[in-house]
Amino acid sequence: MSKAIKNIALFASGNGSNAQNIVEYFHDNDDIKPCLILTNKASAFVIERAKNMDIPCIVFTAKELRESSKIIDILNDFSIDFIVLAGFLLRIPQNVVDLFPNKIINIHPALLPKFGGKGMYGDFVHKAVKEAKETETGITIHYVNAHYDEGQIIFQKKVALSDKDTPESIAEKVHALEYEYFPKVIAETLS
Ligand code: GAR
Repeated sequence: MSKAIKNIALFASGNGSNAQNIVEYFHDNDDIKPCLILTNKASAFVIERAKNMDIPCIVFTAKELRESSKIIDILNDFSIDFIVLAGFLLRIPQNVVDLFPNKIINIHPALLPKFGGKGMYGDFVHKAVKEAKETETGITIHYVNAHYDEGQIIFQKKVALSDKDTPESIAEKVHALEYEYFPKVIAETLS
């Protein structure tokens, strides 16, 4: 990417703790600017976080994402260069992927290709990991294409599990990895 300043849009569907962590990480960075949060859920806590961080936050519907140019228009209005899916649960349609080739990344709370695909998000993933009696889990950061969790993998980090772990403790371990590595991987991907 040639332009020095890179404007990032963060897509989040719920709590938004990763979105907040990313905004805070780049607060004093002159080149990488998380400048917009987009959410498909009007009740998502990420909206409150955006207000507190003084970042514009726009709500859209799944239908608008699928069937209109609203999202593309917004991304153009904010001169967005790069998109980060941080706990975003809808599929990104092909027309958006085409406009941002290798410029959309997602974090998945498991070691893809295991525990990925439609319906595999958040706590559903951690419950499935527990039920499968996995001895490790982790995070996967990958480029986004128009299929759930299938784009090229950029980064993975593992964490060990014991049979005492619960879906809640697995979620905590995974979130800790996300907070530590996701902003760094964004910075590296944009450098
Ligand atoms: C994160 O653990 C993220 O990896 C996961 O949702 C959580 C959102 O937490 N994403 C997916 O499951 C995508 N398939 P947050 O809203 O507190 O950042």
